[in-house]
Amino acid sequence: MTPEASVQFDANGRLRHFLTTEGIGRDTLIEILDVAGSFISVGERRIKKVPLLHGKTVVNLFFEPSTRTRTTFEIAAKRLSADVINMNATRLSTTKGESVLDTVKTLEAMHTDMFVVRDKASGTAHLIAEHAPRNVSIINAGDGRHAHPTQAMLDMFTIRQRKGAFEPLAVAITGDILHSRVARSQIHALRQLGVSDLRLIGPATLLPTEIEKLGVRTFFNMDEGVEGADVLIMLRLQTERMDGQLLPGPEEYFRYYGLTERRLKRARPDAIVMHPGPMNRGLEIASSVADGPQSVILAQVTNGIAVRMAIMAKLLGEAGREGQQ
Ligand code: CP
Repeated sequence: MTPEASVQFDANGRLRHFLTTEGIGRDTLIEILDVAGSFISVGERRIKKVPLLHGKTVVNLFFEPSTRTRTTFEIAAKRLSADVINMNATRLSTTKGESVLDTVKTLEAMHTDMFVVRDKASGTAHLIAEHAPRNVSIINAGDGRHAHPTQAMLDMFTIRQRKGAFEPLAVAITGDILHSRVARSQIHALRQLGVSDLRLIGPATLLPTEIEKLGVRTFFNMDEGVEGADVLIMLRLQTERMDGQLLPGPEEYFRYYGLTERRLKRARPDAIVMHPGPMNRGLEIASSVADGPQSVILAQVTNGIAVRMAIMAKLLGEAGREGQQ
């Protein structure tokens, strides 16, 4: 197990932090999905609140921009009745030279129970977890190109919600795999949950070398890669993480790797289309597909609240039974 994967567990093997989907067993992944399922109804009630984390303090520590993740974490914590503080890079003393660890220690001195951390550098959440006191939990809300485990879990939830069992599915992930923390976390989770036909599609410059070791098949030709697939996951071109020119140009990228209605017809007729967002219409996905009947992109966002509630409840030691009331 990698250092990131092992630091997630306490001496008794209990999940204490959520930093990566790597090393988390199938039973724990399924338990999170089941508890998230019980929380879906909370969002549909007149009073959208359960008291599970009443009296707990959660700090959202975002050093990198976010719309979906930051907002759904805030809503999730509030639905669990926690007190939530939102900190973003422009409001933090790290802009005055304070180290991230000193910022976190300062916030810990205010009896924070959980930090939700996003940073453009890989490893920030892991570093904070390594230095956290025993009673503080860390959730990785995306670190560089390394991992985005709660995004992967909400994607797993959405796949199971629409498709049922994982084992018979053909799942195709298309685009900038090389720079994608989402793809990395999805691959570990999909493999652990038993998906046998896992395909990565993209230009050679955006597919990591030796990625096949993770039990995936790679395709440079998108038409071949999407053939008969049940789930199509599109990824954003992460130009902010690219060193140098890795692509000929946006029009050419869309021609070869954009998901169009014509390409979608090559997948199974009941295939679902996913995208973690933010998406670039006309670059990785056509608007008619993003807004079409097979798209579950907005359902992913909605499901993110219940999934993040389940993960927070698990880390802070609650069973999540309240969601079933
Ligand atoms: N999927 C995702 O992480 O989106 P945000 O950057 O908006 O949080």
